[in-house]
Amino acid sequence: MIKTDYLVIGSGIAGLSFVLKACKTGTVSLITKRKLFDGSTGRAQGGVACVSTKQDSFEEHINDTLTAGDGLCNRQNVELLVKSAPARIKELISLGVKFSKRDYKSSEFELGLEGGHSRRRILHAGDITGNELERVLIENISKNENITVYEDFMAVDLILDDNKKCCGAYVYDVQNEKVEIFLAKVVILATGGASKVYLYTSNPNVSTGDGVAMAYRAGADIANMEFIQFHPTCLYHPLAKSFLISEAVRGEGGVLKNKDGVAFMEKYHPLKDLAPRDIVARAIDTELKKSGEDFVYLDITHKSQAFFFKRFPNIYQKCLEYGIDMAKDMIPVIPAAHYCCGGVSVDKDAQTTIENLFAIGEVACNGVHGANRLASNSLLEGLVFAEFAYQKAKEIVSNSRYNDKISDFINDSTGNGDPTIMLQNWNEIRRIMWDYVGIVRSQERLLMALKRIQIIKDEVIQHFKDFKVSMELLELRNILNVAEIIIMAALCRKESRGLHYITDYPEKSGEIKNTIINIYNPSDNI
Ligand code: SIN
Repeated sequence: MIKTDYLVIGSGIAGLSFVLKACKTGTVSLITKRKLFDGSTGRAQGGVACVSTKQDSFEEHINDTLTAGDGLCNRQNVELLVKSAPARIKELISLGVKFSKRDYKSSEFELGLEGGHSRRRILHAGDITGNELERVLIENISKNENITVYEDFMAVDLILDDNKKCCGAYVYDVQNEKVEIFLAKVVILATGGASKVYLYTSNPNVSTGDGVAMAYRAGADIANMEFIQFHPTCLYHPLAKSFLISEAVRGEGGVLKNKDGVAFMEKYHPLKDLAPRDIVARAIDTELKKSGEDFVYLDITHKSQAFFFKRFPNIYQKCLEYGIDMAKDMIPVIPAAHYCCGGVSVDKDAQTTIENLFAIGEVACNGVHGANRLASNSLLEGLVFAEFAYQKAKEIVSNSRYNDKISDFINDSTGNGDPTIMLQNWNEIRRIMWDYVGIVRSQERLLMALKRIQIIKDEVIQHFKDFKVSMELLELRNILNVAEIIIMAALCRKESRGLHYITDYPEKSGEIKNTIINIYNPSDNI
């Protein structure tokens, strides 16, 4: 049994930021199911949205966020997000993060533009912002002796005491193939997103919705999971698994074109290629369905090679590896699942509906993204709500004791799971989600999806009885739970809003409400 004041599950920007604060007031265990660098944060290209010039204002950033969120944002939390941004950026810079400057002599930041932003306000480190943030945060963590990092440790389930307070987690030690108990005064879910539940995604393999699934199984409220953001421009190439072409490329003048080289976004929105993501992704989907083609093009050939070397060195290099020279060739792109706007329902201090359980970053739903996230607000959200969570969590830590009357994890099965069966389950789930619960939905498709997922669920429950715990089995169970939650949430929402477009209800309803799914009343509203 491992005892720790703070148990942090997940090593993206939210988890790492929290850990660096928490180590000042207690012992911290940071568990991550693969290596520290393997999450989505390290791949983030765009940057961090923050008001940093006199021409810009908090009001404009707030309004852009609310407009993208299509009526469903929590305004109070959006204000906290936007107004806290400068302090969090200052903190990052003091830790050693180097954001791109206008030129090597300048003290001014080079600000990027992305869809839905009325101004240039994205601080970035070239086109590898997430990597730079992670580098600095991890460097700082490694200097601190209050922090113990457990790589290759995957949380299985949360542990609740008799009063339904969270007091730790069962955690699978992948190398040694055994389940450990981590006892904690507070548990912080920072497990990131769930986009691996879809066949095509910009996310790394780790994005299997573990935090949402565990919180759901423990009885927490899960909010707004129908709002899955599809990034409009992932590279379309048989060998380029989930490589993103940043929205900042459109911010610098990239134009979406059909196979005949005709620009099409002006038919869909006055902001054309810089319309909010839900609109751009749906426009591409419509164009592809009309033409029967597999991809559209992104054309930024009017820029020089020198420009790419400075602004998008990583994307330029990656495209070149696949035979695409951005300075000469149009880039084939398709939409792919990118970000989960819903998640474990939390208040402004990141507290879930289970006592002593917090959620921060993509796994959480605090209302800042509403029905559609504004580009480059997600790294910011991880930073800002890690701070609020810490302020609340440290009070709990200073006033509580460990509860060590915990039962051992029970799994008597000795069978090795048949990898072919588990892979088939996994593939079926991702295909069903892509075909029936994707960019455009219908009631009929959602009901068919639910029926099929329930069949697979029976099989997975049986695997759990028959097979030894393994990472594959745990991830399979998690994506299954998340798929089911997304479908139930989508069935509950009888309107089209933001990222949720359903042909049976093409308009917004007059009523603005969050969709809450809870294991105790999973489908009340369906
Ligand atoms: C991008 O660079 O296009 C992704 C940024 C984001 O998802 O916020």
